[in-house]
Amino acid sequence: MNEISASAPGKFVILGEHAVVYGKPAAALAINRRFNLTVRRDSEFRINNEAADITANPHLRYISGKNDMLPVSVHMDSKIPTGSGLGSSAALSVAFSAAMRALNGRSTDEGEIAKEAFEAEYFSQGRGSPMDTSASAHGYGVALNAPENDGGRLWDITKNEYAWRVSMIDVPPMTFVIGCTGIKAATGPLVERVRKYKDSNRFASDIVDEIGQITLDGMTALRKNDVTVLGDLMTKDHKLLSILGVSSKELNKLVGASLPYAYGAKLTGAGGGGCMVALTDQPEKVCEAISSRGGSPFIVKTGVEGVRVSVKT
Ligand code: MEV
Repeated sequence: MNEISASAPGKFVILGEHAVVYGKPAAALAINRRFNLTVRRDSEFRINNEAADITANPHLRYISGKNDMLPVSVHMDSKIPTGSGLGSSAALSVAFSAAMRALNGRSTDEGEIAKEAFEAEYFSQGRGSPMDTSASAHGYGVALNAPENDGGRLWDITKNEYAWRVSMIDVPPMTFVIGCTGIKAATGPLVERVRKYKDSNRFASDIVDEIGQITLDGMTALRKNDVTVLGDLMTKDHKLLSILGVSSKELNKLVGASLPYAYGAKLTGAGGGGCMVALTDQPEKVCEAISSRGGSPFIVKTGVEGVRVSVKT
């Protein structure tokens, strides 16, 4: 019987989280932390050798439902911390979609996988953008709603009133350090908090527009390899996200500790806890500063490939 292996990377967001949910521009890079899994047919659903109710996990349930819902045994092994803004649930959805599509003889085109995985995320969270699943499926770097002539077009995704044009961005030869607070925060409620604030308050909706604008400026800086401008924009983005209420004192502490040694720093992903990212040419100093304030740092490797799938017979 066929066993399918699939693997997909996590990601961090350089600029534009939250605003991207409303169709604004954003940019994310895949990182060298992956979600690996295998699937094979079985007489009942199993996860890591234990009988499991697959419908209890909305991502697995949605993707199984798009396939044939026949029982499978899934083995999972992830190096992406969960609830940390590093795209763990997107990577799970991308890897599981790839494996199930291969098992069912469906296309394993990365765009098709990105779309199915986004629908699984949306089903689970009730909201969100296709940024994380697109970054995980394609790997390297992706931009959403960048200017038309910027980078190669990958795919378009629409949901309700929003549309996202996903394109590739060159992964810059820049050094980033990620610092994690160790506090887990679910994405859905944080997105919902921003939506309510934005819908009820003109000031908050202006902040969302401003995040979109600085993201466009950041894409230009990224293309020019201008770390000084890009870093300033990241720090500015962090302040705007803080005003939207998605930072935390732990995140602010790690951002503040890294800034003396970095071009810029910001929370990454949904916020509320999770991780921050710093752009720097002194990664060891940034790591020390983050550790000294109780965070867990790592120097991230970018330029990594997206979803991989292989069949063992
Ligand atoms: C993505 O990592 C974080 C949010 O922008 C939600 C989303 O885009 O789905 C907050």
